Amino acid sequence: MKTDGASGSGERSVTRGAAALPRHVAIIMDGNGRWATRRGLPRAFGHRAGAKAVRRVVEAARRRGVGTLTLYAFSADNWRRPAAEVEALMGLFERSLGEQARRCVENGIRLRVIGRRDRLDPALVAAIDAAEARTAGGAAMELRIAVDYSGRGAVLAAIPLLPAGPAPTREALLAALGRAGQGGAPEVDLLVRTGGERRTSDFLLWESAYAELFFSDRLWPDVGAPDLDEALAWYAGRERRFGGLPAPAPATNGDPHEASHAA
Ligand code: FPP
Repeated sequence: MKTDGASGSGERSVTRGAAALPRHVAIIMDGNGRWATRRGLPRAFGHRAGAKAVRRVVEAARRRGVGTLTLYAFSADNWRRPAAEVEALMGLFERSLGEQARRCVENGIRLRVIGRRDRLDPALVAAIDAAEARTAGGAAMELRIAVDYSGRGAVLAAIPLLPAGPAPTREALLAALGRAGQGGAPEVDLLVRTGGERRTSDFLLWESAYAELFFSDRLWPDVGAPDLDEALAWYAGRERRFGGLPAPAPATNGDPHEASHAA
């Protein structure tokens, strides 16, 4: 049977081991609220501590050579939270953007915000525009922050931007997601979720079709470079088959015992 995966330029081959630094890491930053509650603090304090973890992880990802890092800061469903928490989060995003953009410029990082903008406060949209413009020359890594983001909503927003024609391709949809400001290329290699839950919560659905999923029980404000390293090391040990067969065992000097271990 000829599968859909057999067509198109986005075909990926089997990879394993040291070559496997993920090009695109996406993170669901969960656990801010519990981190604060456990300390007897309002939830907003957890988000503030979460913003510090963002800085640590962005800088670590840049040092490790990750090409694209996408962080889930606010989902389209997070509007259901109490107004005070939404307001605190939006204020935090607005205040953090200038500082984050400054750090990005220093580190050669391009910052982009993906998701809907039409429901955001105009002052926040202006801060996003300014941060994106200021960091546009960054070539070392792309940092994408997902705000008012929904993976299903992203696909729906991209569909009208597909080129006319009878048969859209996977690559065309990825490109349309980018044009719609809703994510897009490259596909996610490693998807991390902190905070103990094991679900992907409508994040980068199209781009994560073959992502390796790493779940950590650590609450986001406690996360730092060692946690990123743990996820990267785990990823490097994964065999990515993209529906194919396991990679052939490495050649040996004819020792059958060694070969059986390598399979
Ligand atoms: C999920 O934890 C976290 C969020 C909804 C907000 C993420 C925001 C930040 C990390 C802060 C700043 C980000 C930037 C980009 C400056 P939760 O509140 O659902 O935690 P819980 O599951 O313990 O309640």
